Amino acid sequence: MRILVTGASGLLGLNFCLMDWPGHTVIGMDRGTLGATPFQLLRAELTQPGAISRLIESARPDAILHTAALANLEACEADPELARLLNAEVPGLLAEACAKSNVHLVHISTDAVFDGTKDGIYTEKDAPNPPGVYSATKLQGELNVLSANPAAAVARVNFFGWSLGGRRSLSEFFYNNLSAGKACNGFTDVYFCPMFVGDLARTLVRMMEKGLSGLYHAVGSSALSKYDFGVLISQQFGFNSQQVTPISVEDSGLIAKRSHNLRLSVHRLSTALGQEIPGVSTGIQQFYTQGMQGYPQKMRSYQQVAG
Ligand SMILES: NC(=O)c1ccc[n+]([C@@H]2O[C@H](COP(=O)([O-])OP(=O)(O)OC[C@H]3O[C@@H](n4cnc5c(N)ncnc54)[C@H](OP(=O)(O)O)[C@@H]3O)[C@@H](O)[C@H]2O)c1
Repeated sequence: MRILVTGASGLLGLNFCLMDWPGHTVIGMDRGTLGATPFQLLRAELTQPGAISRLIESARPDAILHTAALANLEACEADPELARLLNAEVPGLLAEACAKSNVHLVHISTDAVFDGTKDGIYTEKDAPNPPGVYSATKLQGELNVLSANPAAAVARVNFFGWSLGGRRSLSEFFYNNLSAGKACNGFTDVYFCPMFVGDLARTLVRMMEKGLSGLYHAVGSSALSKYDFGVLISQQFGFNSQQVTPISVEDSGLIAKRSHNLRLSVHRLSTALGQEIPGVSTGIQQFYTQGMQGYPQKMRSYQQVAG
């Protein structure tokens, strides 16, 4: 399969593009953040008229993994129009173009579409109620994709790993602070199901290989609080866990509202793929191994050098 990955400089996109995919060819798409990469790279600004059809014409993909988005919650609150354009409108246009060209689309959405008030685990049948601009625009993106292209798959994700800038993921937040000997806050009242980005990438390729359609929760199979996640990172790297300070998200000073309960069921996905979905512990071990093997530094070497 020829797989085109939008947002190849992003946390998910870059990790995906840097992995080995025997039997598949990966083509990344970015808008100038990356320099020389070990994978083929195309340039596009997805909000430009005609960009999507030009991209499909030059990449000639069998499948597209659409990761590009305005994925920073505070940036979405600051610029709701850009958030709407990138997170809602562009996915709809991409889905339409994929339907016309017979390209299988896997569109990336978020666990954050839920308001977190459910007493229990969310399934794909539960009604979303997005708490902020980011989640509202991502939900609209899901709806636009599936109405324009019912053969597409939408994956609601939550993941962690190493990123180009070294600061994108929650795992890096804990690692950066703890490795510098600094205390950092961990929310005791936000539960989520994080998946290691490499596990997520393998799961997404399986979804493409199976040609899945419709809505799937593609998160990790274990739920824990953000505080407990910080403690696990700390223990894995041998840092002082006492430096992870347990606090409530309500006392965090963050502007964009966060849901307290983002426990999502992966039953539908696990059944469709005929396999278990990985949990957090093995994911944190892989994150650690990559850290020890110099993967973050290698990743940064793919950044475009200014000048
Ligand atoms: N990180 C998480 O835990 C998490 C959780 C739930 C859902 N998600 C979803 O997962 C997906 C990937 O997230 P991520 O964390 O990998 O995001 P990210 O690191 O913020 O990367 C976003 C990517 O989108 C690209 N992009 C932004 N605007 C663009 C435009 N106008 N045209 C073309 N490309 C553009 C960025 O390119 P530049 O480098 O040029 O800016 C970057 O490559 C998103 O759909 C996000 O909503 C993420």
